[in-house]
Amino acid sequence: MVCLGNICRSPMAQGILEHKVEESGLDVEVDSAGTSDYHIGQAPDHRAIAKSKEYGIDISQYKGRQLVAEDFEEFDRILVMDTSNYNNAVALVEDEQKKAKVEMILNLSQPGNNMSVPDPYFGGEEGFENVYQLLDHACDVLIKELKSER
Ligand code: 4NP
Repeated sequence: MVCLGNICRSPMAQGILEHKVEESGLDVEVDSAGTSDYHIGQAPDHRAIAKSKEYGIDISQYKGRQLVAEDFEEFDRILVMDTSNYNNAVALVEDEQKKAKVEMILNLSQPGNNMSVPDPYFGGEEGFENVYQLLDHACDVLIKELKSER
């Protein structure tokens, strides 16, 4: 799960997906990172922590980190929140097979639309509810895909 700061959208996405992976008994490693170095080592934004907690998910211990080229070796899929994340992520690697690991997360729930998860950082609390709902639906689709791959 990748966004810009790794303190709002991608940690929420990580928490949601980890929760669903656990519920469904799948064996999948989930992580998150930011394309920027702005918030390395920092906890998620307090609004992201509070919104996740509302849905029974604890992301308070996550720590921000920056996406690196090695992530393209470690992980099968790199899910990004918006077009800017997409461009920054694919720029980290040369290899076309690695670039192809990057996908817009909302293409899971709204295929082919290349919709972005709006950055809630500069907005109010309601932005975080919207982000939560978008990510929750996308992760439901991902879980179905992962189950069908078994
Ligand atoms: P995120 O939100 O990419 O969803 O974690 C942001 C967090 C911080 C900043 C921008 C977006 N920032 O500019 O510091």
